Amino acid sequence: MEILIQPSKQEACALGARWIARLLRAKPNAVLGLATGSTPVLLYQELIRLHREEGLDFQAVTTFNLDEYLGLAPTHLASYHHFMRENLFRHINICEKNTHIPDGLTTDVPDTCRKYEDQIQAAGGIDLQILGIGGDGHIGFNEPGSSLASRTRIKTLTERTRQDNAPFFDSPNEIPRHVLTMGVGTIMDAREIVLLAFGETKAQTLAAAVEGPVTASVPASILQFHEKATFLVDEAAATHLKRADYYRWVDANKPKWQQV
Ligand code: PGA
Repeated sequence: MEILIQPSKQEACALGARWIARLLRAKPNAVLGLATGSTPVLLYQELIRLHREEGLDFQAVTTFNLDEYLGLAPTHLASYHHFMRENLFRHINICEKNTHIPDGLTTDVPDTCRKYEDQIQAAGGIDLQILGIGGDGHIGFNEPGSSLASRTRIKTLTERTRQDNAPFFDSPNEIPRHVLTMGVGTIMDAREIVLLAFGETKAQTLAAAVEGPVTASVPASILQFHEKATFLVDEAAATHLKRADYYRWVDANKPKWQQV
């Protein structure tokens, strides 16, 4: 694991975008795993800037999103289909047919989930997965207690996650109780993982995920078992990390060839 503590979320997102750009320049047909929520918005803005100003090319890129609300149409303003279109896809030269998001309107959940896993396999697996972390330690929508071996499936949101996401809905009743999400096992199959965490509200969970025991009660803690997981965090999210000084020391003393 690598913990990169940045002065601000702007700088963390700029670094995350450079990370993705480096991959796309080395492998133009890379498969990206994408996240939604407030955390990756600045990262996507930076990717859009790199596309416009530096010609970062998405033409051959394939994407798979982590999750979608069950029951929301792609046109619903709170759907992740809508989020991705507005925050990234319509601003870059990605082919729509290469973008994948679980179908929130499916009438056959197990079949849709199985096919999503098959599509990831058929694309050659995910090269780089972007993650946020929920206040309760979830990754994707894998709430605490999720099997650490789980695959894409239906999950029931915790009340806390529903409330965290309430601002995107007109009324509390509208917030779905169910979602489709890649499983923890699906996420762990990605060849590389970059998790973003910003702000004081994520500090305790981040410390539990990075320095606490590996447990299904904090699904993000499974990343301790990933061969190549990087945490890009701001100062506020790093406040509860006991080894913060060591992480800074490692970063400051990186050999040149390791720097992004
Ligand atoms: P947020 O959500 O980016 O809106 O904080 C993160 C998550 O739930 O993974």
